[in-house]
Amino acid sequence: MALASTFLSLYIFLFAYIFTGFACADPDSLYQRQDDGLLTSPPDYPSPWADPEANGWEQAYAQARDFVSQLTLLEKVNLTTGVGWMSERCVGNTGSIPRLGLRGLCLQDGPLGMRFTDYNSAFPAGVVAGATWSRHLWHDRGRMMGEEQYGKGSDVLLGPASGPIGRAPTGGRNWEGFSVDPYHSGVAMAQVVRGIQGAGVIATAKHFVANEQEHFRQAPEAVGYGFNITESLSSNLDDKTLHELYAWPFQDAVRAGVGSIMCSYNQINNSYGCQNSKLLNGILKDEYGFQGFVMSDWQAQHAGAASAAAGLDMSMPGDTVFNTGYSFWGGNLTLGVINGTVPEWRIDDMALRIMAAFFKVGRTVGGQPDINFSSWTRETLGYIHPMAQENLERVNFQVDVRGNHANHIRESAAKGSVILKNNGVLPLSSPKFVVVIGEDAGGNPAGPNGCPDRNCDNGTLAMAWGSGTAQFPYLVTPDQALQRQALEDGTRYESILANNQWTAVQNILREPNTTTIVFADADSGEGFIDVDGNRGDRRNLTLWKDGDALIKNVSSLTSNVIVVLHTVGPVLLTEWYDNPNITAIVWAGVPGQESGNSLTDILYGRRSPGRSPFTWGRTRESYGADLLYEPNNGEGAPQQDFSEGVFIDYRHFDRETAADPENTPIYEFGYGLSWSTFEYSNLQVAKRNVRPYQPTTGNTISAPVFGAPVDPDLSQYTFPPGIRYIYRFIYPYLNTSSSGEDASGDPEYGQEADQFLPPGAIDGSPQPRHPAGGQPGGNPQLWDVLYTVTATITNTGDRMTDEVPQLYISHGGDGEPVRVLRGFDRIERIAPGESVQFRADLTRHDLSNWDVVSQNWVITDDEKTVWVGSSSRNLPLAAPLR
Ligand code: NOJ
Repeated sequence: MALASTFLSLYIFLFAYIFTGFACADPDSLYQRQDDGLLTSPPDYPSPWADPEANGWEQAYAQARDFVSQLTLLEKVNLTTGVGWMSERCVGNTGSIPRLGLRGLCLQDGPLGMRFTDYNSAFPAGVVAGATWSRHLWHDRGRMMGEEQYGKGSDVLLGPASGPIGRAPTGGRNWEGFSVDPYHSGVAMAQVVRGIQGAGVIATAKHFVANEQEHFRQAPEAVGYGFNITESLSSNLDDKTLHELYAWPFQDAVRAGVGSIMCSYNQINNSYGCQNSKLLNGILKDEYGFQGFVMSDWQAQHAGAASAAAGLDMSMPGDTVFNTGYSFWGGNLTLGVINGTVPEWRIDDMALRIMAAFFKVGRTVGGQPDINFSSWTRETLGYIHPMAQENLERVNFQVDVRGNHANHIRESAAKGSVILKNNGVLPLSSPKFVVVIGEDAGGNPAGPNGCPDRNCDNGTLAMAWGSGTAQFPYLVTPDQALQRQALEDGTRYESILANNQWTAVQNILREPNTTTIVFADADSGEGFIDVDGNRGDRRNLTLWKDGDALIKNVSSLTSNVIVVLHTVGPVLLTEWYDNPNITAIVWAGVPGQESGNSLTDILYGRRSPGRSPFTWGRTRESYGADLLYEPNNGEGAPQQDFSEGVFIDYRHFDRETAADPENTPIYEFGYGLSWSTFEYSNLQVAKRNVRPYQPTTGNTISAPVFGAPVDPDLSQYTFPPGIRYIYRFIYPYLNTSSSGEDASGDPEYGQEADQFLPPGAIDGSPQPRHPAGGQPGGNPQLWDVLYTVTATITNTGDRMTDEVPQLYISHGGDGEPVRVLRGFDRIERIAPGESVQFRADLTRHDLSNWDVVSQNWVITDDEKTVWVGSSSRNLPLAAPLR
C-alpha cells in the first residue's frame, strides 16, 4: 500500500518543480520564455468549480450534489482515483461506494469500437467516418458505440478523439480523429458525443491537447526505445493557434455536453497536459465552461496536489506507474485534503463533476449495468483482480452487443471512401475478368485479430494499431467480397494475394480483358508499439511492403489498373498517379469489419463516395510541419515548436499556392469525385440582426462544499479492519494515523501550503467569469447566427448521387489563412436534373479570430468573403460578408 508520508514529500517536490517556470512570467503576455529559452505556460488558479446553472447540467448537478453530500472523504477520493492498472476488469476502474450502491466506474476504449472484448463491432476508423462528412452517420456511430459499451457494462467510453488533429501527416494516431480541420472535427466530435451519451454512456473527448506525435509523448517510453530523456515532449504553441486550431473541436464537444475530457501525455509550453492550469482551469473549465471531469491519460499524471490544483479530476489508471501500488492520489489525496493542501471544495468539485456526468447521461446509482466482460482474458473464467490474481470466477459472459450495427459500418466505410481518380472505369459493371493483386486484398494468415492491438501489417489493413483498436468480430476482406460479386455477375476472377508473386502477375496480365485492381497500404498507431521501425508515427509517407513498386510494375504491364489504398492518411502518389494506365484511384482508408463489402459497394457504384479529410501533397516536405524524431534539448523535454501556427494541411498548401500558383498539391482537402456532375449557383447571403457581443461579466458563486466537514482525526482514514487487502490495489486510506505533522515530516505542512502552492490555488471565493465564457461552450453569444448562406446545387449528370457542398470563409487581414472551412453538408441522393438548396449558418464564433490581448473572440474589420463549392480549391461561388 502507498506510503502516504513518503509520497507527500514527493509531491511537495513536484509542486516546487512544476511552478518554478512561472517565476519570471510577465502577466500581460501568455507564453513567455524563461532564461533558459524554454517557453512557459502561465498559472491560472483557482480551479473553477461546477456551475449549478450551467445549461443542460442543472438537473445532473442537483442529483450529483445530493449524492456527493452523503459521501465521506474516503468515498469522494474513491471516485477520483483509479484502482490501478489491471486491478479490475476494465481498462480504467475507479473505486466504488458500496455503502450507497455505486460500483466503481468502468472506463473502456475506444474511438472505433469497444476494445478488449468480444461480440463487439469494429467500426471504420475516425478518419474514414470523417470522410463521410455526414452528421447523421456520426450521430449513429456514437449511438451504436454507446449501445455496445452500455451492453457490456461500461460507464465511460474513451473516445472520440480530435487530438491529434493531424499537424503532420506522419502523426501515428491521426487516423483516430476525423480530419485535419478543426471545424469539421468539432462538428463530428459533437455529433459522436451526443450519440454516445444518448445511449447512456459518458463520452470522453481526447487527448487535450496538442498531442500531435507519438515520439517522446512519455519519457520512460522514449527511454525504452533508446532516447535518454527525463521529461515528455513539449508542444509549444501560441494562444491564437491553440484557440483557432487545436482546442477548437474540444470547445464543440463541451458545448455538446461531453461528460469527460482526457488530458494528454505531452507538455504544452513546458507544463504537463494533466497539470497545466492554464489549459485545464483557464480554458476548459473557465472559458469553455466545461462541467464534466478531466481524467488523465494512462500514466500522464506527474504530480499529486499540483494536478488537483491545476484542474485534474480523475487519476487514471490510478497508480503512479503501472502496477507500482503507489498513487499520486488515493491515500495522498485523502491526506492532502485533511491537512489543507487540497481545499475541501476541490475534492468536492472533483466528485461532483464525476457524478454530474454520470447522472447527465441518465445513469442511476444502483442501476448500473453489470460488467460482463474482462479486458484481460477472452476465456470465460478470469480474475476479478487480474493484477493481484484474486477472485477467479466467470468474467466473460460473451454478450453479443453488435445489434444491426454492421449495416451502418458497411455504409459508413463506403461513404467514407474517396475516389481520387476515375477515367470512366468506375463504377464497374459485370467486368469480364477481374484480377486482384496485392497482400492488402487478403487476410492476415494469423487471423484478423492475430496481432495484439493490431501490431502488424499483415493482410488487408482494416484497423491501425494501439489502444484505439477493437477485436474484429469478423473481417470481410476485399478478396472475399470482390470474388462474391464476381460470382454473382458471372465475372471471371483471380486474386494474387502477395506483393512478390511477380512471375504469376506477369503471366496473368498478358491475358486480354483484364480489369486489374491492385491493393497497397500504409499503417501507423500508438507509440507503445513499434511496427517495422515505425514507433507509432510513420517514418515516411510511402506505401508499405513495396506497395509503390507493385503499383508501378503492374501499371507498366496493363492498361486498366484500379489502385485501392488502405492508408491511415496521405501517402505520396507523385510517381504514378498520372500514369494513363492507372484508370482509377480509390482511398478506402481504415474501414473496419465490413472492409470488402464497403469497397465493393463503392467500386460497383452502389454507394456514393466521400471527400478527402486531408490533403495529398507531392512530397513529404510540401506539408511544411513535420514531427520531431530526435530529441533536441539534451536530456530535458524535447521541444516541438508549432511555429507554423494555424497553417497545417490545406491552410499551408493554400498559402504556398498563393505565393506560387505552380505550387499545388495533387488532391486537396475536401476533394473527391462523385458519380455525377454538379453545378453550383445562386449564392445568397442573408445578414441576421443580432445584438452586439457582450463579454460575460459577473462573478461565480463561492466554492461549495458538500456534506459533513472533514474530520481531522486521522484514525478515521486508516485501512479498515475486516477488508481484505488486494495486492497493488489503490485505496483511499492512509497508512498511518499519526498526526499530519508526523505523516508529512514537515511541522509547518498544511498551515503553510500557500507558500508552495501557486497564488490563488486554494481561494474558494467568488471568481470573475471569463469574458469569453459563461456557459458550456463559451459565451452564448458566440453561437449567434450572423449570416445564413444558401446556394443552389443542380445535378447536371445522369446518375443519382450524394454531393458534399463546402463553405469556406476568408477572415481577411495579414497572416490569416487564405480560407477556412465553416460549413458543409452531405446532401444525399440528388436525382439527375434535380436542384437542391445548400444552407449554412455562420455564427459569431465562425467569423471571429481569437484576440490574445482581450482574451476573447473578435470579428476584425478586415473584409471577409464566403465561398461555396465542392472542395477547398474548387469554389465557384463567392460573395463578400458585409
Ligand atoms: C493511452 C491512450 O493514449 C488513450 O487514448 C487510451 O484511452 C488509454 N491509453 C487507455 O487505454
